[in-house]
Amino acid sequence: MTLATRDKRVIWHPFTPQKNMSSPIAITHGKGSLLFDEQNNSYIDAISSWWVTLHGHAHPYIAEKLYKQALQLEQVIFAGFTHEPAVSLAERLLQILTSNFSRIFYSDNGSTSTEVAIKMAIQYWWNQQPATGNQQPAPRTKLLAFTNAYHGDTFGAMSVSDRSVFTLAFHDLLFEVVFIDVPDEHNIASIKSIIDQQHETIAAFIYEPLVQGAGGMKMYDAQWLNELLRHVQSKSIICIADEVMTGFGRTGKLFASEYMECKPDIICLSKGLTGGTMALGVTACTNKIYEAYLQDDKLKTFFHGHSFTANPLACTAALASMDLLLYNDCLQRIAWIEDQHKGFIQQLQDKKNIKNIRHIGTILAFEIMEGHDEYLNNISNIITQQCLHNGIYLRPLGNTVYLMPPYCITAEELNKVYTTINTLVS
Ligand SMILES: Cc1ncc(COP(=O)(O)O)c(C=O)c1O
Repeated sequence: MTLATRDKRVIWHPFTPQKNMSSPIAITHGKGSLLFDEQNNSYIDAISSWWVTLHGHAHPYIAEKLYKQALQLEQVIFAGFTHEPAVSLAERLLQILTSNFSRIFYSDNGSTSTEVAIKMAIQYWWNQQPATGNQQPAPRTKLLAFTNAYHGDTFGAMSVSDRSVFTLAFHDLLFEVVFIDVPDEHNIASIKSIIDQQHETIAAFIYEPLVQGAGGMKMYDAQWLNELLRHVQSKSIICIADEVMTGFGRTGKLFASEYMECKPDIICLSKGLTGGTMALGVTACTNKIYEAYLQDDKLKTFFHGHSFTANPLACTAALASMDLLLYNDCLQRIAWIEDQHKGFIQQLQDKKNIKNIRHIGTILAFEIMEGHDEYLNNISNIITQQCLHNGIYLRPLGNTVYLMPPYCITAEELNKVYTTINTLVS
C-alpha cells in the first residue's frame, strides 16, 4: 500500500475539503529549495512551505545544532525553570527588533503568538484597575483590526480576522471587533473618525504590516499605515504588529515594522523564526506593557502558557536560523530575489489575463482574471496541478498567484518558476 493510500485512511489534512480529496504527495526528503517525492520527482518549493522555510529544507547547519541540543536537553517545563537556548534567543531577538521591546513571551505557532498578544493587551487594561476593581471588566475590551485580515485559527485570532470563509461557522461566537479598511489617501480621514468615536473602549489595534498574507497577499502603503499608527497611538491604543508572515526578511527588511516610524507595542513572530524548521511563536512587548504585570496582586499575573513553551529544540533551531540570516550573505540574497522579481514583473506587464501585479521584498503576487476574486476560486487547484507537473510547488489563494521562495533559491530555480508562470498565464 502506498503512503498516500495509508494517509487517506487515517489523516485529516488542514485547509483541505475532505470529500473527493486528491491523493496527497508523499514527500520523502528536501534539500535547499527542493522537495522530493517517493518517485524522486523534485518540486521547487516556491512558497516556502506555507511561508516558513528561509534557508532551505533539511539545512545541515540547523540539523547539526538540533542534534547536539537533542542529546543535551529536549524539553523542560518553562515555569520555574529556564535554559540557555531560550535566554540566548530572547537576547538576540531583543537586539534585532525595532523599538524598545523588553520582554519575550514564547508560545507554539503564529496563532498562539497573536492569541497571547490579544490577551496581553486586554489584560494590560484590566491590570490598570485598583485591586478592588478586579471583579470589573477591563475598561477597554474591544479590538481594532483590518478588514481582510488573517491572524490565525484559534478563537481570539479568528475574532480579529476578517469574517470570511475561514470563520463562517463561528461568526456568532467571535468577540466584537471594530473593523477598518487598510488606509490610503482617500479613506484615512474617515478611518480616523471611526477611531475617534470609539477609542475609549478600544484596547488594542492588531495589523499585518504592509502585506495581508492569507487575505490574498494584499499590499498597502507604509506612509498611510504610519499615519494611522500615529493616530491610534495618540489615543493610547496598544499597537500589535502581527509579523508572523512578514518577519525575518520577507518584505526586504528584517521586519516590516522597520518601514514605519511609529513602532508597535507588541510584535508577533513565528513561521521564519526557526528558519521554518520547528514550530515556535514569540510575542515581544515593550516595558510599558510588561510593567502592567509587575504587581503584588497575584490576580494580575498573565495566566497563559503551553506545555511546550520555549521548547529548547525550537529555540535552538531559531538561534541557528538567525546565524544564517544575519551572518551569511542572506540579506544580499533577499535583495537579489527582489531584483529578480522586478525583472519578472516587466515580463508580466503586457499579459491580458492578469491584474494587480505587485511585490515587496521577496513576495510577488497578482490576480488571474478568471471567475471571482475569492479564496474558493477553483483556478487555484488548476494552477497547483499544472505547476506540480512542471516540478514547481505553488498554492494560489483562490485566483491570487504569489511567490514567496526560500532565500536559498538559485537563479536557475527561480527562472524555472518564472518561465512556468509565464507560460501558464499566456
Ligand atoms: C499574519 C499571520 N498571522 C498568524 C498566522 C497563523 O500562524 P499559524 O498558522 O502558525 O498558526 C498566519 C498564518 O498564515 C499569518 O500569516
